[in-house]
Formats: sequence, structure tokens, C-alpha cells
Amino acid sequence: KAGRMADSLDFDLYIVGGFPRDLVLGQVNHDLDLVVEGDGIEFARELSKELGGHLDIYHEFGTAVVSLEDLKLDIATTRVEYYPQVASLPEVEHGSIQQDLFRRDFTINALAIQLNQASFGQLVDYFSGKKDLEKGLIRLLHNFSLYDDPTRIFRGFRFASRYDYNFEENTEDLFKHAIELDVIEKLSSDRLFNKLELGLKDRNPVRFISLLDEYNILSYFSPGIEWNHETEILENNVTKVLDWLHDLEIVTSFEEWVLYLIVLVHGLNETEIKDFANKFNINKNLFDRLMTSLKADKYIRILHDAEDNSAIYYLLQGLAIEDMLFLLIKDFSLEEEIKLYLEKLQWTDIEVSGEEIIALGYSPGPIFREVLDEVRKAKLNGEVETYEEEKEYLEQ
Ligand code: CTP
Repeated sequence: KAGRMADSLDFDLYIVGGFPRDLVLGQVNHDLDLVVEGDGIEFARELSKELGGHLDIYHEFGTAVVSLEDLKLDIATTRVEYYPQVASLPEVEHGSIQQDLFRRDFTINALAIQLNQASFGQLVDYFSGKKDLEKGLIRLLHNFSLYDDPTRIFRGFRFASRYDYNFEENTEDLFKHAIELDVIEKLSSDRLFNKLELGLKDRNPVRFISLLDEYNILSYFSPGIEWNHETEILENNVTKVLDWLHDLEIVTSFEEWVLYLIVLVHGLNETEIKDFANKFNINKNLFDRLMTSLKADKYIRILHDAEDNSAIYYLLQGLAIEDMLFLLIKDFSLEEEIKLYLEKLQWTDIEVSGEEIIALGYSPGPIFREVLDEVRKAKLNGEVETYEEEKEYLEQ
């Protein structure tokens, strides 16, 4: 329908960006970025009249979004961009589809698929993107690309790690030069952290980090971060621990990428963690996780020495799920203890009510807490199981 609509307006219509790239790779991508050689906003208006849905127009960018029930279409006019300064906002002018593709980051992202009826489905590939996809190469489209937009350095690492690709030789040199010239310094700390987060959320965070190391970028995050053999082993353990957790089938909610981050910064000392958290505006919860990791070795020792279930309970009860998983990342031999806590111990409840305890002659106050703790311990250690046994225990 969109193709027919474009035909009636005499516009050329293409789908661009991640969708054609992943289609060539035989992978699914739900991002639908359309570009129109003509007037993108007019096309979006007509399309939303025809298809219904909700239309948002962003005049300042010359783009529009048509939101249908289960589909979102981003629509733009083909354009050329000029970057007056490094990492500044581009000045934009209308351009041909070829110019629109050329302003992009890598050849593999500069493919288009035509949607007009006469040539529906035809791959538009001015820069041999398909060949690079087949060869597994990340290749920049032009020499200034990384100066125009230094975040492309991180995109490069993301695609290289996601698809297990390499950098084409000249591209590798361009990356090295731009990094030596400190273009990353131009990015705000919010953007910098966001690029790290995207990499850690992508398909191969361990290779992403090792590329950051190889290109000397880790120090922009903290001068104390070291990528060594031990950290690499721990990063690889993250996946193993996540698989282990999925197999447990317990309900937890946390962000998996945070584990890769905890491991990445786990060698920092307290001051370095605080500096890192300040620089990147790290929220309180994440900051607490990073700080807890400082005590991991101590907790691991306590868990190994735990003589009964209540000792396990009282240690782990104060920790977040990410903290516990970090202990496992460091020492997987604790899996039984942590599994026991997650599946069972954490749900240990005392069934006898407060009133019943008072009726048994215990007065409210500090004694009351102690009594409850005693019952809980007995219950955790299996000395007491049922409601009746709790009562008997209290009566003694
Ligand atoms: N693009 C670019 N430079 C950037 C960001 C985006 O040239 N800094 C171009 C690329 O052509 C990219 C397209 O805009 O394919 C869409 O960008 P985006 O949706 O951010 O990325 P995808 O390539 O779709 O990647 P992902 O699969 O990670 O969503």
C-alpha cells in the first residue's frame, strides 16, 4: 500500500537502515525506517489518511512517525548532511537516495530496498554493503564520518561484536586516528555512558568490551578499569550464571547488562567507584550494586563458612539479586547455597501471629523480636516446619 501511495505522489520510497541489513543476513528487524525521495511529511500525511493510525510530525527534523496498531513507521525525506564542527548537529538539505545513504555510518547500514510497485523489493546497494555483509566487514563510508559523529565508534564496536565482524583495514586506521585525536572527549558523559550501556545490552558484550580495550577507550570511563585475563574470565561467567538463573525458573527482575558493568568495574577501589558514579550520574541502586561488589570476597568467605541455613539467610537477605549473581560469577561453587536461598529460604515465613505469641506470655518489646528471630532460625534450619511445631517451639 505504501508503495502504491508513493507511486501516486510520484515519490520514490525506500526502506533503509537496520531492516535491509538484517534481511540480507536472514535476521528479523522490527525497525521500519522509510525514506522518501520527494516530501516525507506529505507522504506520511497521505499514508496515515489511507491506513489510519496516529501521525506525529517533527517539522524541525523533517520527519514523521505513523503509528499503527502493531507497527511503527519512521518516515524521512532523503537528505544530505553537513557537519560544521566535530560532533555538532548537522545542517540538513534535501538530497538523492544515494546521498542519503552516503551520509550514513557503515556500508552494511547503507543498503535500501525500494518499495515502489514497479521495482518492489529491489536492493539498492551503491556502496557494496551486501559484499561487506558477506565478507563480515565493517567499512566506513567516508573519511570524516567519525569526526561528524564520534558515537559511530561505539556503533562500529557494537556491530563488530554483534555479528562477529572485523574492521576493514582503512576503517581500522580511521578508527585509530580519530581515537588518537580524542574525538571521544567531545561526547557528553551521558552520551558516553549510554553508548557503553547499548554495547553491554547488545548480543556480545564481552567482545564489545574487549574492543573498547583494544582501542584504548576504557580509560574514558575510569582510569582504573583494567581488562585482564581475570576480568575476561569473569565476563564470560556472566552468561553462564544468567543461564543458570533462567533454568531455576524463579521470578526476578533486574537488568542483565548491569552484571557486565559490575564485572567491568569490579577492580576499582571505593574512590574510583565514587568518581565513576559521579561522572556518569549513576543512580542510587546501581551505585549500591557497584559498592557491594567491593565486599564480594568477604561474602564469599562467609558463605563458604556458613554452618546452617540461617547463616546463609542472614547474609543473602541483605543483598540484591545482582549482588548474589556477582558472587556466583566470582565463585560458581556457591550455586547450591544461592539456589537454596532463592528457591526456598527467602520465602521463609513465620505462621504464628503476633497476638498468639503475646497470648503465650511474651511481652511486646525487644524480647518479642528475639523470639521471632529464634523461631525463624529454627524454621530455616528445618528444626521447625509446621504451624503446630512453631507453637510447640514457642511454648517450651
Ligand atoms: N545511522 C548513522 N549514524 C548514526 C546512527 C544511525 O549513520 N550515528 C544510520 C544507519 O544507516 C543506521 C540507521 O541510521 O542503519 C538507523 O539507525 P538505528 O536505528 O540507530 O540503528 P540500526 O542500524 O537499525 O541498528 P540496531 O540494529 O542496533 O537498531
